[in-house]
Amino acid sequence: MPLVTYFMNNDYLGILVNKTHSLPEDYVPADLIPVNIPFAHVGDDSRNYMRRPAARALETMFRDAEAAGLHPIGVSGFRSYERQKNIYTSNLAVKGEMHTSLYSARPGQSEHQTGLAMDISSPSVQSALTANVENTSEGRWLRQNAAAYGFTLRYPAGKEHITGYAYEPWHFRYVGKNLAAFLKKEGLTLEEYYQLLAL
Ligand code: DAL
Ligand code: ZN
Repeated sequence: MPLVTYFMNNDYLGILVNKTHSLPEDYVPADLIPVNIPFAHVGDDSRNYMRRPAARALETMFRDAEAAGLHPIGVSGFRSYERQKNIYTSNLAVKGEMHTSLYSARPGQSEHQTGLAMDISSPSVQSALTANVENTSEGRWLRQNAAAYGFTLRYPAGKEHITGYAYEPWHFRYVGKNLAAFLKKEGLTLEEYYQLLAL
């Protein structure tokens, strides 16, 4: 497969989806499965689904976190284009343009549509997605260990001008172990990695 086709493929595990790289409206991953971890919203909910490789890696990460005495909670995984559209529109109405653009992707521009992202919280903040996740034992453990399972903390503090989003200590993105290890070692966001590739 030509290199460009490989990187442009919507199913590529290292795909870049952000404010300048959108997914098609009708893109739904073909390998979505329910993830077997504790969730904030119980039941058969699409938020509890991810793509198979991400789901399996997340299950292993949760199992090891639990073995270390922690209790991470999955809050939001896969989101369809439609669902993201509803979230974005309602945030815009309630919170305004400034806040919404820092925390909520436009439809087609959310990593949650890839099925490779999961928002993870902690019982000590009542499963909320707030800045306080940073100071929970779960948040700390995940920041330290997620790369070993193939996940990257996608919107880190200090990189807001690069990612276009506020610090989200809860949003983890599966990219595979090799890329996650590289990003962690070099301290890079996915945007910076793609800039390197373009050199
Ligand atoms: N909170 C992230 C940016 C999203 O809406 O996908
Ligand atoms: Zn998220």
